[in-house]
Amino acid sequence: MDSGQWSQGRRQGLDKPMPLSRSQVKLRRVSDEIESRFKRQTRIIQADFSEGASIYPAIAEQLKGLEIGILVNNVGMNYAGMLVNFLDVPDPEKKITEVVNCNILSVTQMSRLILPQMVERGKGLIINISSEASSQPQPMLTLYSATKICVTYFSRSLNAEYQGRGVTVQCVTPFMVSTNMTHNIKVNTLVKSAASFARDALNTVGYSSFTSGCISHALQHNAMAIFFPAWLRLSPFCVRRIERFSKEVRQLIEERMAQCQKKQE
Ligand SMILES: NC(=O)c1ccc[n+]([C@@H]2O[C@H](COP(=O)([O-])OP(=O)(O)OC[C@H]3O[C@@H](n4cnc5c(N)ncnc54)[C@H](OP(=O)(O)O)[C@@H]3O)[C@@H](O)[C@H]2O)c1
Repeated sequence: MDSGQWSQGRRQGLDKPMPLSRSQVKLRRVSDEIESRFKRQTRIIQADFSEGASIYPAIAEQLKGLEIGILVNNVGMNYAGMLVNFLDVPDPEKKITEVVNCNILSVTQMSRLILPQMVERGKGLIINISSEASSQPQPMLTLYSATKICVTYFSRSLNAEYQGRGVTVQCVTPFMVSTNMTHNIKVNTLVKSAASFARDALNTVGYSSFTSGCISHALQHNAMAIFFPAWLRLSPFCVRRIERFSKEVRQLIEERMAQCQKKQE
């Protein structure tokens, strides 16, 4: 899960993976790696999805004339990088707009841009990365989980609308994957590495349009539904416990976030 949005274009017989993200340096690095390891031409598009509606005309312009076979809406951001109450972030007004733009507007607008040509050709694949956090309401991940249920419903309904016209819209709802978002948490039987998750999830394409992406995450999803149902997680007792837990681990998470930030720089 190393880059924001992806699309794959095909023109004049060339496969062109197109990473789309906000950091030119990172895009260049990913692009160079694809070109040298997989001998594929790439094209990169730089955009900051937290900026909202203004970025899409420029993206549309750069996609003009390209045949896009696969769109992966992977971009996403969480609200605070840790469990917090809704009001407990610096500048909530700005943060709310950024998260909604990044998690919801990106998926819907990118689908609007690419879907028409897929429908015209009668084939195409859109993969939208939602989250297990969308499976139930999540106090202290309130906005993030709310944006992800939007992605889930959007994807599933869109798939129902367009699968008869040859376009598959797959919705993936991962549990924990070790990435910057999760402060590169240690990989174990519950937490997948990004590479391993991506491999497993891609193997579900064509078999399932709504998936946890891998067996471990599917089992965790079922266990959570049984042992941690919505009525329990929304109860005042549970919310107090989550708040207490969040305070206990806050310092540790802040240290991890600082480390990740340094690594990225
Ligand atoms: N990791 C998990 O445990 C987990 C679990 C469930 C769902 N997910 C979902 O999986 C997807 C990928 O997450 P991840 O874990 O790989 O997170 P990540 O490590 O933070 O990566 C997010 C990707 O999105 C890009 N991005 C973030 N904000 C952006 C912006 N404003 N404009 C353009 N690109 C932006 C980042 O690229 P740049 O930094 O280069 O811009 C990065 O490549 C997200 O939708 C997330 O919600 C993750």
